Amino acid sequence: MMERLNIGASQTRLEGFTNIDVAPWADISLDLGTDPLPFADDSVDCVFSYHTLEHVPDYLFALGEIHRVLKHGAPFLVGLPYVTLTEVHLVNPYHLHNFNEHSFDFFEKGKLRNSASEDVMRRPIEFKKAFHRFHYMGVANVLPERGKRWARRHLFNVVRKIDYGLVAVKHDGPVEFDADALRAEFLACMAAREPYRKKPASPPPPNDWRAKKRQFRTWWAGKED
Ligand SMILES: C[S@@+](CC[C@H](N)C(=O)[O-])C[C@H]1O[C@@H](n2cnc3c(N)ncnc32)[C@H](O)[C@@H]1O
Repeated sequence: MMERLNIGASQTRLEGFTNIDVAPWADISLDLGTDPLPFADDSVDCVFSYHTLEHVPDYLFALGEIHRVLKHGAPFLVGLPYVTLTEVHLVNPYHLHNFNEHSFDFFEKGKLRNSASEDVMRRPIEFKKAFHRFHYMGVANVLPERGKRWARRHLFNVVRKIDYGLVAVKHDGPVEFDADALRAEFLACMAAREPYRKKPASPPPPNDWRAKKRQFRTWWAGKED
């Protein structure tokens, strides 16, 4: 049987995953910053984590545990706020770490010297990045690629959040992955998140054209309940 983990499940859960959070209603309730994950080494097929690692004081401990339990080549799909988002990230006292497109280069051998793969104080952590995806804000969406890169480096509030597809490297030798499949898997996880307590659906107000359009498209696509 596949073992898949949703790390930092919060109010949402993923069917078919073990949902982990410090919250008491999670399938497994623990502190990611201090408690080992209750899974054997090399036993997990996929870890998904959306906007959680930035909250964990000892984020390297949590990352080390995720790496320990993953099988060689298994994906770690992770979404995080982008470093230069001011309104809900940089000033948020619960967000303890910053992330950008280079954050996981520190765990990829050969990319950056003195990286975690060379950290003699801890069990080595090594991931290979398959993809990252920026969620641009406002006019940044329509800038050409060079303009986007310049804006990311020099301005605030250009990117809201960033998704990564990483694969665990557990031993020497090749690690194979399909970046497009991992992107699709990330999106599938995002779409499958459901609240623990579902609210009953309320009917749309009669003159809400957006709701009518949505209803029509649902009907047209044959997706009605
Ligand atoms: C922004 S929410 C995650 C959102 C959720 N993943 C989703 O898909 O909607 C952050 C979560 O991290 C959890 N969290 C924060 N610090 C933690 C820790 N040290 N150990 C375990 N969970 C923690 C919080 O309880 C919270 O549920």
